[in-house]
Amino acid sequence: LDDLLGEGVSGRRVLVRADLNVPFDKNDLGVISDDGRIRAVLPTLIALRDAGARVIVCSHLGRPKGAPDPKYTLGPVATRLGELLGNPVVFAEDTVGASAQAAAGALLDGQVLLLENLRFNAGETSKDDAVRGAFADELAALAEYYVDDAFGAVHRKHASVYDVAARLPHYAGGLVLKEVEVLRKVTESPEQPYVVVLGGSKVSDKLAVIQALLPKVDKLLVGGGMCFTFLKAQGHEVGKSLLEAEMISTCADLLSQADGRIVLPVDVVAATAFDASAEHEVVDISDIPADRLGLDIGPKSVALFAETIGSAKTVFWNGPMGVFELAPFAAGTRGVAEAITKIDGFSVVGGGDSAAAVRTLGIDESGFGHISTGGGASLEYLEGKSLPGVSALES
Ligand code: 3PG
Repeated sequence: LDDLLGEGVSGRRVLVRADLNVPFDKNDLGVISDDGRIRAVLPTLIALRDAGARVIVCSHLGRPKGAPDPKYTLGPVATRLGELLGNPVVFAEDTVGASAQAAAGALLDGQVLLLENLRFNAGETSKDDAVRGAFADELAALAEYYVDDAFGAVHRKHASVYDVAARLPHYAGGLVLKEVEVLRKVTESPEQPYVVVLGGSKVSDKLAVIQALLPKVDKLLVGGGMCFTFLKAQGHEVGKSLLEAEMISTCADLLSQADGRIVLPVDVVAATAFDASAEHEVVDISDIPADRLGLDIGPKSVALFAETIGSAKTVFWNGPMGVFELAPFAAGTRGVAEAITKIDGFSVVGGGDSAAAVRTLGIDESGFGHISTGGGASLEYLEGKSLPGVSALES
C-alpha cells in the first residue's frame, strides 16, 4: 500500500478487497454484533481516502448462492463503515452492474463506495476459471488499481481475491501484510514452549492443522465441541454431545502419535438442551449423563489449560471452548482467553469466532499479541498451504 500511496493516487480509482463478513445479532439481522473486521480495514481505507483516491470497496458477506439475497446485503455494513470513517459511504445496489458502474463513475476524490455482496454473482466463487475470469474482468473495469486487504479471504481462490490481481496493478494492504508477518513468525520460529489451543465444533475442520502442528507444539489443548470425539476415542461416554463418529479412530491415532502432547478437558458443563435456560451441571468427563450434552469445558479443565498456557512463550488460539454466545456456557472460553492475555510471551488469536468471542466477552484486547481477522485463512497458513490471495499479490 505504501508503494501505491508513493505513486500518488489522487483522483485514481482504487478497488479494495476487504473482508467485511461480520456477524449479525441472531435476533436482529440488521444489527452487526462485532464490527472488528470493519475496524481492521479502516487504516487502509483512511490512507487511500486521505490521499484523494476514489475508493471502491468490495467484500463478501455470508454464503449466498451466487444470486442476490436480501438476507446477505452489505447495506448495514455500508452504514457502519460510514459511521466509523466519519463520512457516509456510497452504497451500490449491485456489484458490477449499472448501479456499481454509475456510482464508481460519479465518485469524487476522497469518497468511498461499497459495492453489494460479491457472492451475489456466481462468477465470484466459480470453480471454472473462465467464469471467474469474466467476473474479474467486470470488477477490474471499475478501477485502475487493486489493493487486497481481505486477509480473512486470502485462502479462497475467488475472482475478487485471486483473478483481479492479474488484471490490475496490485498491492497488499497493511492488514494483509501484518497478518502474514505475524503468522510467518509463529510458523517458522515460535519461541518455546509453544502451546496451541483449539476449539470449535468439528475435528474434521481442524484435522489438517492438528497434523501440521503436532510435530511443532509442546502442548495442544483441545476444547469446544470437537473435544467430545477425542474423549470418545479415549473410551469416555459423551451422552448427547457433538460427536463425529467417523473421526473417532482418527482421533485415537492422533492421541497415540501425540504422546501426551494433546491435552483434553477433565470436566465439562453438561446441559439438557442447547439452550441458555437449559438445566446444566459440571461433571467429570467420566460421568457425562447419557441424556445431556457438553456445552463448555468445566472449571477444572480451565485451571488445567490455564496452567499450561501460563508456562508458554508462544500461544496460538483458534476456536471457542464452549457455546460462549450463551452466558451459562461462556466461562471456559473466557477463562482460557484471560489466561492467554497473562502470558509472558507472544499470543495470536486466530480468527473469526475466537476474535468475536474476545470482543463479545469484553476481554482486554491489548493482552493479546495479535488478533487475526481470518479464521480459515490463519489455519490454512499454519497448515503450510499456499494461499491464493497471497500468491496472487506476489506474482
Ligand atoms: C471467514 O469468515 O472466515 C471469511 O470471511 C471467509 O468466509 P468463507 O469461509 O465463507 O469463505
